[in-house]
Amino acid sequence: MARNTLERSIEGIRAAWGPLSTEVVAACQRQLEDLLRAPVTEDWLSALHGEAPANKELYRDPKHRFVLLAHSEYAGLYRPPHDHGRGWVIYAMQKGEIEMGTFARIENPDGGAKLVKRNSTVVRPGQVQVYLPGDIHDTRCVTGPALLFRFTERDLAKEDKQEHRVTRYVERDGVWTAGAA
Ligand SMILES: [Fe+2]
Repeated sequence: MARNTLERSIEGIRAAWGPLSTEVVAACQRQLEDLLRAPVTEDWLSALHGEAPANKELYRDPKHRFVLLAHSEYAGLYRPPHDHGRGWVIYAMQKGEIEMGTFARIENPDGGAKLVKRNSTVVRPGQVQVYLPGDIHDTRCVTGPALLFRFTERDLAKEDKQEHRVTRYVERDGVWTAGAA
């Protein structure tokens, strides 16, 4: 039996779990929206507000391998464009505001690629954003301190450092690029 909103959300995600589909993403999104409604009086949440950890793992599923993390961010913190390898991700804002931009990757004829920005949206408390495999985005904390939950379908640190599937983009002459210049 779940003792708090966090455990209830995890149970809901476990119950809905399956291969990536519209239904699985929608169910996980609903669970994260419920998580955002947790009263701050719940111990785990008041502890998070007190600690304000840059990066804290809240849960790792031993069977399905999904991971739920909490991040505290200060106003101005910028994370440059990246994808999430084969993984998909849901960001859920608990406190503060983060502007999230999305990009398309355009291949250059001479190798390498550049990004074209599609749009951006300010994600506010109570709101979630879904990024599916292949999606590219950046984030900028516009109102801090912010607290957000990051639900990842797999261990993204492993996808990045061990599997080398995550692409990060670098700015060259005002253009986000990858590979050959
Ligand atoms: Fe991301």
